[in-house]
Amino acid sequence: PFVNMRIRTRVCSGGVAACLVTVLTATTASAAPVRGAPGVGDPYYPGDGNGGYDVTHYDIRLTYQPETDRLSGTTTILATSTAELSSFNLDFALDVESVRVNNRPARVERDPADPTEVVVVPEEVVGKGEPMTVVVRYADTPSEVAVDGVTAWKLTETGALAVDEPHIAEWWFPSSDHPTDKATYDVSVEVPDDVVALSNGVLAGTSKQRVGWTRWNWRSVEPQATYLTFLAVGDYDVRYSTTPSGLPSVTAYETTLGDSRAAAEASIERTPEVVEFLEGLFGPYPFEAQGGVVSTGLDFALENQTRPVYDAGFFSRGSNLSVVVHENAHQWFGDSVSLGRWSDIWLNEGFASYAEFLWSEHVGEGTADELARYLYESIPADDEFWQVLPGDPGADNQFHSAVYDRGALAVHALRTTVGDEVFFELLRTWLDERRGGHGTVEEFIALAEKLSGKQLDEVFDTWLFTKGKPKVGPSGAEV
Ligand code: ARG
Ligand code: ZN
Repeated sequence: PFVNMRIRTRVCSGGVAACLVTVLTATTASAAPVRGAPGVGDPYYPGDGNGGYDVTHYDIRLTYQPETDRLSGTTTILATSTAELSSFNLDFALDVESVRVNNRPARVERDPADPTEVVVVPEEVVGKGEPMTVVVRYADTPSEVAVDGVTAWKLTETGALAVDEPHIAEWWFPSSDHPTDKATYDVSVEVPDDVVALSNGVLAGTSKQRVGWTRWNWRSVEPQATYLTFLAVGDYDVRYSTTPSGLPSVTAYETTLGDSRAAAEASIERTPEVVEFLEGLFGPYPFEAQGGVVSTGLDFALENQTRPVYDAGFFSRGSNLSVVVHENAHQWFGDSVSLGRWSDIWLNEGFASYAEFLWSEHVGEGTADELARYLYESIPADDEFWQVLPGDPGADNQFHSAVYDRGALAVHALRTTVGDEVFFELLRTWLDERRGGHGTVEEFIALAEKLSGKQLDEVFDTWLFTKGKPKVGPSGAEV
């Protein structure tokens, strides 16, 4: 969520060009090799992801100097081709020095109409179903790289952050940038000794090979979406521990948090307790590590896999467990089971927001039903809030408060309609069956109808797909 809950609207950061790219459809039974499509056909961001191959692993090996914002190094992509390829695309905004495909130099072209589309032309055609090793060398100054006028790479007081949604990977590693193409990661970043480099998963170790620099090696062993892969460089106090359930935990606090530091710790250090509560609702925690990073200069929080990143502003009025619950609920809804399309954003934000209601009930600060009723009553029917559809808000309104709040009311209305037993079985079945994968709103609705044995068009149409304030509240008709 956002520090200031009133500024949740955002512009399409994929931008006009990315949104206008036409998806080339690969011909099916062709003898001739094809050009891999520049996108996977996302309705909001047609240029996101790439056709013709599936990534299995990213090995990102970089050097970063915060004083100059210079980022350089190599990303090695392991992928499998899904077609016979004469060329394929990478999503990347930084300057590329060279690309090799299966150990031979490849030609690199950039689409002038969309600077985030890098076209790679291998010396030899890649056969269908073959392993591909793509080595990209690059160097650039990410804060100076704008895509449609926007730079998602953030400079903080003590370093930099690669943390954003839906687009951040373009500013630090080449990828197939769509949540349906998940992969494992090794993220290795060399930084000056007076700062640290933080990322997802487990710290596989640090190493030194020249005076003044330390290399930090992070590893994610479960499938991870590109936008959930993060890098935080700066002056942080880092704590390593083991959770009661035996997972490695890394928490980190930028040293410049000031008066909010204690409240941040009083919240983030309770992550294992929050995760245990969520496991009771959603089933087993899906990843190999836990933690959290608190930083300045972000103005939102993001559910980076195994390790959410929070702006310090969340803790300006004391501890804030709601945001910890929200970001950790995303570990199930969003990170383990990812969006099939960006238009399915309700599957992330509606459920993460509803988890905050359930936590409130757990700690005695109001039941989920009380919170849902209050929210429904407190927003007047003529408020523009009711004009944004959580089930398909549009790229410009992906993070509108309606996606979060009306989205949570939709979850409550579903629960009221099917009853607690079916409702919690539905959540656990959805998360278990699709663990490590992705899904769409239609697929979720189909499962809800199957498990409840009910036709649920009315509740979903009313709460997700119809403009205006629903006549009946999320708790159902009053007796
Ligand atoms: N998914 C994040 C959350 O936990 C919100 C990210 C907002 N993105 C942004 N670029 N401001 O709600
Ligand atoms: Zn969220």
